[in-house]
Amino acid sequence: MKGIILAGGSGTRLRPLTTITSKQLLPIYNKPMILYPLQTLLTAGIREVLIIVAPNNAGDFLKLLGSGKEYGCKFTYEIQDKPGGLAEAFIIGESFLRHDDVSLILGDNIYEDDFSEAIQSFQGGGRVFAKQVPDPERFGVVEFDEQRRAVSIVEKPAEPKSDYAVTGLYIYDKTVVEKTKNLAPSERGELEITDLNNVYLKEGSLDVAFVKGHWFDTGTFESMYEAITFVRGRELANQ
Ligand code: G1P
Repeated sequence: MKGIILAGGSGTRLRPLTTITSKQLLPIYNKPMILYPLQTLLTAGIREVLIIVAPNNAGDFLKLLGSGKEYGCKFTYEIQDKPGGLAEAFIIGESFLRHDDVSLILGDNIYEDDFSEAIQSFQGGGRVFAKQVPDPERFGVVEFDEQRRAVSIVEKPAEPKSDYAVTGLYIYDKTVVEKTKNLAPSERGELEITDLNNVYLKEGSLDVAFVKGHWFDTGTFESMYEAITFVRGRELANQ
């Protein structure tokens, strides 16, 4: 199982903070944001990680993370020239992935959970992790039938059919690159991860699991502040 951290994008919702640096380098209490998703992959036993960054601050990511030796793993870097959607990660990462399974984590997602079991038991298809949230319209939302089976995933619906958000950790088998190449860009011209998930769902191979611990998408000032408060509490409790 290989890992990808997607740390591209222009972080427009966090301007002016992101005028001078990348969102994923901003501090979450005592560490740059990207170290949290990195830790999630490391805890799950992943040792080969592709880090995809935007061109502007690429050097700063290299300075922070280096070769990976310090973490006992190997880092590879690629540039996402412009925001082309989350699923574009698999096209950018094609030569890195070869034909391996992959766990993609978004560089602004912070989990208080351990995915070792979910990643190590992965056998094929796709697996996503949902979490109940008060504001599902901000996310990809899972719609369930009466038997609690996922029937569709809708990106940022105005009228969400459930309050289960699809969070930013995705596991896929080696068919992900081909599936992504067959996606049509959305109205905003991006390859949407929600469309990819629906391809797996339609073929009956998407497993919707759940996040048990805390989860934060730190893409807005409010959610970033919540994450900082949470991490601070945890750090102080561990002292
Ligand atoms: C992205 C995805 C969305 C997902 C979210 C998780 O949204 O498009 O489906 O629920 O990440 O963080 P974004 O945060 O890029 O708006």
